[in-house]
Order: sequence, then structure tokens, then C-alpha cells
Amino acid sequence: SIRASICMAVPAFAASGCTGVQSVFSDGGADAMQLSQLFYWMLGGAALLWVGMNGAFLYATRGKSRPLSRKGAGRLIGLGGIALPLVVLTPLLAYGLSVMPDQRAAGTGLRVTVTGESWWWRVEYWPKGATAPVVSANEIRLPVGQRTEIELVGREVIHALWIPALGGKMDIVPGRVNRMSLHPVRAGVWRGQCAEFCGLSHAMMALDVVAMEPGEFDNWLEAQAGGLGAGVTDAGFGLFQAQGCGGCHTLRGTGARGAVGPDLTHLGSRMTLGAGVLPMTPEAVADWLRAPQAFKPGVAMPAYDHMTPQDMQRLAVWLRGLE
Ligand code: CUA
Repeated sequence: SIRASICMAVPAFAASGCTGVQSVFSDGGADAMQLSQLFYWMLGGAALLWVGMNGAFLYATRGKSRPLSRKGAGRLIGLGGIALPLVVLTPLLAYGLSVMPDQRAAGTGLRVTVTGESWWWRVEYWPKGATAPVVSANEIRLPVGQRTEIELVGREVIHALWIPALGGKMDIVPGRVNRMSLHPVRAGVWRGQCAEFCGLSHAMMALDVVAMEPGEFDNWLEAQAGGLGAGVTDAGFGLFQAQGCGGCHTLRGTGARGAVGPDLTHLGSRMTLGAGVLPMTPEAVADWLRAPQAFKPGVAMPAYDHMTPQDMQRLAVWLRGLE
């Protein structure tokens, strides 16, 4: 029945928030661990207050036969209304404030600029001393054991970057540069999500966050910094040019320098397509090119449904192969 389904769905939804790749109770990041600890202490404090307040309520309403004396009422207000909240809330406030500086600490080396777009993420890596960034999209990779500074930049509307398993969330506000920092403590893949309503496809604005061992991360970043080489003679690239994809997208090492959409130089190295909406397979790439609006309503990417199936297949396989 509907009622039974609802009864089962509620705990299922509640439980799904506690495990997996998008959970605030994860041990993936130093900040997330601090925050989940803080949460448990706050929960304990709230439970104490709940018990105390209910006790005070029962005491105050114990019936006409034993009305509360003036002295009793004073004691009730003094203990239940002043002493209990003070004793419980003051340490929690002090604890909460003590956690804040760590959450806002500056990064130590690498800096990553994340720009909120409609509805995807532009991601730029600035290693220490770099004069130009390594550009990517819809995926953030971070070295384990270091605090990386994340610069948040906006253009049109407010977004918010939230990777619950790694740390707190921060708004992306046009005209401002907000800063947060993340400190992954172990390698793994987590999910991030835009956490501020930003328009039609807000819900489809996700990203993967990959924490890698530092050596592995350096190798990956070096590979990402490279442009296209031999691939540009491929028939797939001919189609890319013929369809005018370079007007909006960049392929480093070629004449394609559009900056409206995501940089596609290493598209195939990302785990998902369209900011977390599709898997990175040739079939999904073709589906996306044919009808992006079907997966992300309102997105600026036009539909390329006029291409022959053979050309589409060739272009999709080639794009997926750009690792
Ligand atoms: Cu971007 Cu919601």
C-alpha cells in the first residue's frame, strides 16, 4: 500500500544519508571528521536538553492537587530555564568555535579554483608557482595528506560547493572569491553536489572528488597539463571541427579554444559526463550529444541530432578516447 511504502521510504532515505560517497559521517577528510564529531557532541547536548526540558515540563504541570509553590516556580526557572541551558550550551559553543579555525585554514601548496557554471563546474589547478592553470571540469582531484585551498568563483547565480565526505560547504557568489580548504586523509572517490538552488538543473550539478596519493596525483596533474598530440589527425577530430564544437570547447594543442563549455582536452579521463549525470562511455557521450536537454534541462549545450548515426558514433568514441 502507499502508506506502507511511505513508512519504508522514510527510514530508507534517512539511512542513505549516513553511508556511502556523499555522507557527512565519512572519514575521508580531516574537516569532515571534525564536523561529524561535533555533530555527535551536539546531539548529546540536545538529548540532555530534551530530557531536562521534559522533566521541567512534567514538574510544572504535575496537577491541580499539588500546585507549584512560588519557591518551586523560582527553582524551576533557575534550574531548567537558566542553569541547564548554560551548562549544556556554553561548552558546546566553546567546542564549536574551537573547530572553526581549522575549517578555514589556508592551503599549503596547490590551489584549485572552482567556478560554478550553469550547471557544471569549471576546475582549474594552480600548483605552487604556476603562472597558468591546468584546466578541467566536473571533477576535483586532490592530494591526500595536504590541505588544498579551494577558491570559489561565480558568474551568474549563487551556487554552493559541498563535498560532505571531505568537509563543510561554501557558497559561490558572483563578484566574490570565497575560500575553503579541504584536507583528504585517505585515498578514495567521493561525490560532491551543488548545495544552493541555482536554476532548472540544480539537482544535476554534481561532481566526483578523487583523493589520490601525492605521487600519483603529481603524475595525473602532469598528464592533464599536456595538450593533444597524435589524436588530432583522427577522423573524430575532423567531425569535431566540422560541427563547430571548438566555438564553445577547448582542446589544448589544437585551434579549438572556446571557453563557454567545459575543456574537453582530457574528457575521457573523467569519471562522469555532464557533471555527474551520465557514465563516461561512448554510448553515453553519443546520447548526450544527441539530446543534452533530455539529461540536463536548460543547459547551454545544443542538440546535435542532425548527425548521421555513423558520424555520431565516430565522434563519441573519439571524444571518450581523449584521456
Ligand atoms: Cu549550482 Cu545549484
